[in-house]
Amino acid sequence: MNVTHLECGLCGLEHEARRLHNLCRACGKPLLVRYDLNRSKTTLTKESLAARRPDLWRYREVLPVDHDDNLISLGEGWTPLLRAERLGQNVGIRELYIKDESQNPTQSFKARGMAVAISMARELGARRVAVPSAGNAAGALAAYAARAGLESYIFMPRDTPRANVVECEQTGAHVTLMDGLITDCGVEVGRRKDAEGWFDVSTLKEPYRVEGKKTLGYELAEQLNWELPDVIVYPTGGGTGLIGMWKAFAELEEMGWIGPKRPRMVTVQAAGCAPIVRAFEQGQRFADEFPNAATTASGLRVPKAIGDFLILDALRASGGTAVAVTDEELIEATREIGAAEGVFCAPEGAACLPALRKLIEMGQVNAGDRVVLFNTGSGVKYMESFDGVATRP
Ligand SMILES: Cc1ncc(COP(=O)(O)O)c(C=O)c1O
Ligand SMILES: [Zn+2]
Repeated sequence: MNVTHLECGLCGLEHEARRLHNLCRACGKPLLVRYDLNRSKTTLTKESLAARRPDLWRYREVLPVDHDDNLISLGEGWTPLLRAERLGQNVGIRELYIKDESQNPTQSFKARGMAVAISMARELGARRVAVPSAGNAAGALAAYAARAGLESYIFMPRDTPRANVVECEQTGAHVTLMDGLITDCGVEVGRRKDAEGWFDVSTLKEPYRVEGKKTLGYELAEQLNWELPDVIVYPTGGGTGLIGMWKAFAELEEMGWIGPKRPRMVTVQAAGCAPIVRAFEQGQRFADEFPNAATTASGLRVPKAIGDFLILDALRASGGTAVAVTDEELIEATREIGAAEGVFCAPEGAACLPALRKLIEMGQVNAGDRVVLFNTGSGVKYMESFDGVATRP
């Protein structure tokens, strides 16, 4: 297809595309996929999209899979961009949208990354895949691995939402629950993978999950008729979605589909685990590990992200920022968004609302800005988070 090579996101070293890779062999940072976009755009045209499949594979020419036989799909992507008028009135934004990623297979945006990563793992010959996960990535991996006929090995913190544990077991994964955080689970995968013959699909430790997630950026552009919003508010753990969208915008510009103007990218984190917010405020390019990470928004409980510099570079280059919200605020926001718009958000997605209010208060977002909030998953998987705020039977 149109992939030319992989390129290190930090040192730029080129790596050959058609074999399994994890991190840059020189500096140990994430690898990004590069395409011959002049070639991609000969068949991927705005007009051609009208007749294409309603999932992320509509952007086939800017995705890495060579052979259609290797394309593993459960119907991921092409989720609705919902206009949120009532919520917009609540906060004082005239044009507010929710990109509703809860409508993906396995109910979160993790399906996008795993669909592409597992398609590539199969194409390049992996048989067994392993991942440390906060929960939703595990559910997605288990489902796509099953669909691809691969064996999956999943490591999650013991206090991961029960729905994530059950879904992995019921879709055939080997599940291990660990005391500690996602970072501890990552160490365990790293320690055992060679002996066990596992391919490590940790976020940004292989090059293709970010390719799946970048389709968020393509979709947003297409759904807004190739005019990007002014502000994107994104709940950030490992940051793959934000990094992916930023990459998508660069590719779209290179193909001549959009101009140089970019949305201000805003990272939202939980106050109990806000390494990127802290690094942003302190002017650092790399984020220190956040001590004693704790939040009910399990997907945001990522104390150290390997793509930290890619997130922070994008926030700064876009004129965006990083905001922390408390667990109390984000749980309350689930009900406000649900009651106003009928979308039952994951706590991570709900966190975008109190973050937006803070941005408005600080004068960083105005009534006339076109704003997109990312609801990255479904509240249905987080029953434990609503203990005490919802009625029990
Ligand atoms: C629902 C939800 N939102 C957001 C995130 C954070 O995603 P990212 O790694 O792209 O920052 C996660 C990650 O687990 C998640 O499950
Ligand atoms: Zn490198």
